[in-house]
Order: sequence, then C-alpha cells, then structure tokens
Amino acid sequence: MTRDKSCGELRESDIGSNLSLAGWVFRRRDHGGLIFIDLRDRSGLCQIVFNPDIAGDSHTNAHDLRAEYVIAVSGEIRRRPEGTENPNIPTGAVEMYVNKLEVLNESSPLPYNMEEAADAGEALRLKYRYLDLRRPEMQQNLTTRHKITKATRDYLDERGFLEIETPMLTKSTPEGARDYLVPSRLNPGHFYALPQSPQLFKQILMVAGMEKYFQIVKCFRDEDLRADRQPEFTQIDLEMSFVDREDVISLMEEMMKKIFKDVLSIDIETPFQRLSFHESMERFGNDKPDMRFGLELKDMADLAMKGTFKVFLDAINDRGMVKALNGKGMAGLSRKDIDTLTAEAQSYGAKGLAWIKVKSASGGGFESPIAKFFPEEILKKMAERLEAKEGDLMMFVADKPKITYDALSRLRLALGERLNLIKPGYKFVWITDFPLLEWDEEENRFQAMHHPFTSPMNEDIEKMLSGNINDKDLLSSLKAKAYDIVLNGYEIGGGSIRIHRQDVQKKMFDVLNISEEEAKVKFGFLLDALQYGAPPHGGIALGLDRLVMIMVGATSIRDVIAFPKTQKAVCMMSGAPSTVEPKQLRELYIKTDVPIE
Ligand code: AMO
Ligand code: AMP
Repeated sequence: MTRDKSCGELRESDIGSNLSLAGWVFRRRDHGGLIFIDLRDRSGLCQIVFNPDIAGDSHTNAHDLRAEYVIAVSGEIRRRPEGTENPNIPTGAVEMYVNKLEVLNESSPLPYNMEEAADAGEALRLKYRYLDLRRPEMQQNLTTRHKITKATRDYLDERGFLEIETPMLTKSTPEGARDYLVPSRLNPGHFYALPQSPQLFKQILMVAGMEKYFQIVKCFRDEDLRADRQPEFTQIDLEMSFVDREDVISLMEEMMKKIFKDVLSIDIETPFQRLSFHESMERFGNDKPDMRFGLELKDMADLAMKGTFKVFLDAINDRGMVKALNGKGMAGLSRKDIDTLTAEAQSYGAKGLAWIKVKSASGGGFESPIAKFFPEEILKKMAERLEAKEGDLMMFVADKPKITYDALSRLRLALGERLNLIKPGYKFVWITDFPLLEWDEEENRFQAMHHPFTSPMNEDIEKMLSGNINDKDLLSSLKAKAYDIVLNGYEIGGGSIRIHRQDVQKKMFDVLNISEEEAKVKFGFLLDALQYGAPPHGGIALGLDRLVMIMVGATSIRDVIAFPKTQKAVCMMSGAPSTVEPKQLRELYIKTDVPIE
C-alpha cells in the first residue's frame, strides 16, 4: 500500500476522498464499538476511526493495535461529527473512516510512555534515541537544523564560496582542548588527531588560491562538557582571501539576516552592536554578554577606598577590584534569602557577597552589616552609581578580577532570570579588540587568546616584531584582529584575520614559547606554505549546534543533535566508547594499563 498523503496534511478539502495513509499508532481509544486512533508520521497527527461494520477483519485487528505499531490504512475522509473537532491540530476538522488496515510492523511494549517523554529522564531518552526522535519537538528541531544548513549553503554558494572537505585523520590543531587521538596501524606508535577545527587546512586552502572556502564540518574536542558543549560538534567554517575584519563581519551579519528570515521569518536588524573585549568585561563581567537585559556591573573601587571595610580594602591592595550589581526591588529579601544568594555567589568562586539595602530614596536609610564602614555620603554615591532606588539591593564582590568578573557575571544571569528581566527575542553582539595574548599563571607563559594564527592589529605587528619576548607589559598590550559573535549570551562563533607573513608567524611562536623545533613538528606545513605567496586572509567559524539550539528555544545542544553524547562523552544508544578485542590492540601496538576502580 503506498500512501496518498501524509497524516498531518489532511484538511477539509480532502472530505469525500478515498485516501491511503501510513504511520505510527500514537494513541488508541477503544470505545467498544468505535475505535479511534491518532495516527502519526513526520508531518503530524490525524484521527482515524474503525467502525465495527467495516468489511473483513480490520475492526478486529484494530483492537490489537498497540502504541507505535506501524500501519497502513485506507478509507474515506469525513468531517468530524459536530462537537468532536479538535481545533488544536491542523487536521482537527476531519477524520478517516477506515475500510482497510494493514499492520506493517508491530512494536514491543515501550520502555517509557511516549506522551510523557519529557518526564522519562534524559538517560532513557538517549538510550532509545530513535523513539525520542519520533517526538514532534525533536523532529521539528532537526527540521530547523536542516533549514539552517540549507540557508547557509545557499547564501555562501551565491557569494562564490566553495564547500571543500578537509581531513578527519590529521594532525593536532591548537584550539585549546585535548585531542582525540587515533592510532595508525601502518605507522606503529604514530597517531592521528581528529581535528579540533579545520583551521590550518582552511588557511592552506587560501595559500592554494581557493579564495573563498566553507565547510559544515564536525570538530572534535576532548574537554569538560556542558549543556552547550559536546565532544563532537559542528562548525559552519569559512575562510576568505583579500579581506579585512569588516568584510567578515558584514558577510556574517547578512548571513544571519538570511538564516533568520528563511527559517523563522524574523527580520534581524543590522549592523549588530559591537563591544570591545574590555568594555564587555567591565559592563557584563564576561565576553559573551546577554544583551537582552541591563543589570550591568559597576566599578566601586574608588568609593570602596573611602571606607574602612577591610574585605574591600584588602582586595584592592591585592591587585583586585570591587564591583557591584543592583538588584531592583530586592530589598525585601530576608536574611535567609540573602544567605542563599551569598552561597550562590560563593558557588561561583566569590568569597562572599556584601550587600546594602536601600530603605529610602531621600537621604538616610541604608540597611547593611557593612554600612557602618562608610560615611553616609559615600553610601549615597554608591546608590547613585548603581541607580539604586528605594527597595533595591546593592550587591558587591571584591576579589581578583577573574573571580569578581566570573561571580558577578553569573549572578547577573541568575538574577536576570529570577527578576524576569530577559526580554524575548534575539540580541546579537560582536566582541572585538581582544588582547592577542593571555598570561597563563599556571604555566607561567603567554597563550594565544584566540589561536596562534591570529594577526595582531596592524599597528601592533611592528611592535611585536621588534619587541622583546620577555617584555610582559608590551606583550600584554597587543591587540588581535579577532572577533566573536555572541547571541543571547552564547558565543556562537569566533574568528580572526590571520597572520600571512612567515616572519610574523615565527615571532608569534617565539612569544608563545613554542620552540623552532616544536613549531616545525607541529605546524611545519603551515610555515612552509606561508613562504610561497600566502595572500592576506581571514575567516570565522560558527557553532552550528548552539545557533540551532537558540533558534529552536532549546536549553541544551543535545536537543538539536540527532545522536549526542552525555556529560561523560558516552553515546547511551550505541554504548560508545567501548573496549575492543585484544587482537585489535595488538595490531596497533597498544598496551593498555587501565586503573582498577
Ligand atoms: P572556536 O574555537 O571559537 O574557533 O570555535 C568556533 C565556535 O564553535 C563552537 N564550539 C562548540 N560548540 C559545541 N561544543 C563544543 N565543544 C564547542 N567548541 C566550540 C562555539 C565557537 O564559537 N578555528 C577557529 C575559528 C576561526 O578562527 O576561524 C575556531 O575553531 O560556538
Ligand atoms: P565578614 O567580614 O567575613 O563577616 O563578611 C561581611 C560581609 O562581606 C558578608 O556579607 C560577606 O558575605 C561579605 N564578603 C566577604 N568576603 C567578600 C568578598 N570578597 N567580596 C564581597 N563581599 C564579601
């Protein structure tokens, strides 16, 4: 039996036609005589009815149908009797009067009730991913993902980009995570690395004269996983020759415009807002600010110095800072609530959370255990700076910059949600003017803030070339031609203009304390390529999973990936990773020494 239509397509215009449908039994209501079934396929649900007087044994067989049986049916489409229409679904005005039923396949009893899938627990849903993916929400998510990649391909194709594949068995690229390694049987003791990104290859494609490259590509990073991080994820990766920062930025803005229009019918405003890295940190405490609400951080160091609160003074004297947030209308919190809030700030790394309640707007009326350390006029100035009015709660963190920023930016997000400040919609922002280098306290050396192939700003190139590699102040002051694109508080992409001169690239490795030897072994092929007429070039990579997650309104990228992994990088369905046969290991010259649990 072939089908004439999809279940979700039935409409009043089909009334009177004899049609065939196929799909899964979603719900069955047996009223003794009449049997009603909600039949489901990818397009949606429709109601089919079995009347006891159908010819043959279709009605009897309908009694035996169970959830998720696969069936084909044919019959007449009729208007539903008055009062039984379902206005909540597009097919709700009609139903099929079945005259023929064929069971295409049975289903074992389900491990969980599909209608309550959301409560089934994610582990179970991931194990039976094929059942989970039958849910309309999941089908919608994957459909939207398809539309986004289609719009992307169309857009880049129209602009002359070529989609070119790059190797999966390759050498390690330094994107900052641990590599996934693959042993080489033919080269005992040698390993490929799965790419953390196609960074080196796309640059070499520019040297190779391809001019405009893109790829929708899997990347692999062995790092700590979170809701927005998977060990394998997908990038919309691209690179262009003869461009500068503005070209990449406007290309991306137009692409976002098209994607949002094609997929969600939403008009995105361009150009996007821009913040320098410095400004983003000062105002929001991180480099991926959610711009859908205010609640900005304010610097309080100068006012804190005018008081005698030791915690603040010690922090400032120890190269730290004092920053604060204003919780609108939060002065009503009890001591217990504030203790909970303090514990929350502590869970973000802060040592504590100092607070001051504003009791009355017109002079006087601050309530706080630390109010006694400050003259009244300073308290007033604090309130003024934070725009704190009667009924508000000022919250302070004093610490080293990293901790202060981290704690307050996370507190800002938590409060944004709690106080319902986050407006619906999509707010893009570019973060620019990143420092080129970041001092790594643990390793006592500089790291590239983006990656080692990112160009310094034009005016900083000569400074770097002529500078002493031990001049920490000079090196800290260099800025990179790097940019991140942030949407609703998620970093959805990052890129840069690259170093295309071999001398600059060599100096960069020098600064990063990567020896000539090591550079040769790891990136020799790039350095070689740079000496044969490398054009100026740059690009960006978008995290496709994050973009789809935000566009479908999901809270985890697992919900927009067909077969994702858990926090422990396990595929619950296939059971990967797993042990292998000793023979396989012998062929690879690998001996394992696994600690016993
Ligand atoms: P970057 O490392 O910033 O840049 O990665 C680009 C984007 O990929 C997404 N992303 C991830 N998504 C899910 N799970 C992960 N583990 C994960 N890691 C990163 C983020 C991020 O913004 N080669 C450079 C790009 C370039 O310079 O052109 C790169 O990979 O959304
Ligand atoms: P204490 O002096 O430890 O009793 O702390 C007094 C108040 O300051 C309490 O509300 C603490 O939560 C808060 N506090 C302690 N350390 C810090 C800090 N580093 N930054 C901000 N507030 C702090």
